Amino acid sequence: MKVQPPELSVMATTAGETERTTRGSAIDRALGEKQSRRMFLRTAVAGGCAVAAAKWLASGPQQTTFEPFQVAKTDSLVPGDSLTFTIPGTSTDGLLVRLDQDSYIAVDRRCPHLGCPVLWSRPANQFQCPCHRAEFDARTGAVLNGPPLDGLRRFAVERNDDALWVRAKA
Ligand code: FES
Repeated sequence: MKVQPPELSVMATTAGETERTTRGSAIDRALGEKQSRRMFLRTAVAGGCAVAAAKWLASGPQQTTFEPFQVAKTDSLVPGDSLTFTIPGTSTDGLLVRLDQDSYIAVDRRCPHLGCPVLWSRPANQFQCPCHRAEFDARTGAVLNGPPLDGLRRFAVERNDDALWVRAKA
């Protein structure tokens, strides 16, 4: 917005109106500056909120990393066996499966759809959610069928001599 200097207004008026016009222009300018300041502040606040919201969305939900904990002895499971466990100090349950001689997978039991506890189906060789018949891949936890949009959350499994340890984030 272009602001006119007071002299330009004065040129078109009589001498008596000069002061009023000049004061009016000063008030107009002051109001204009006030409105500009308000606009600037509104824009700055809105911009700041947008940046904060974008950062929050980009960071995703906050996760806690738990100390590794032992869940089983390696010889306590044969291929195809599973066991459930609870992350120490929490109410979060996991499911550990021995897939074959040397492979294990551990997942968060909460179904990503509505949170029902998932089960291991040895005959189908997959994780299943009984609530809405979702099926998940045994090796990755990815959705095979059903309403969940995301796969099962996986926990890292580490073999240390004859023990299996889980490193969980929840
Ligand atoms: S809660 Fe698991 S499929 Fe709906």
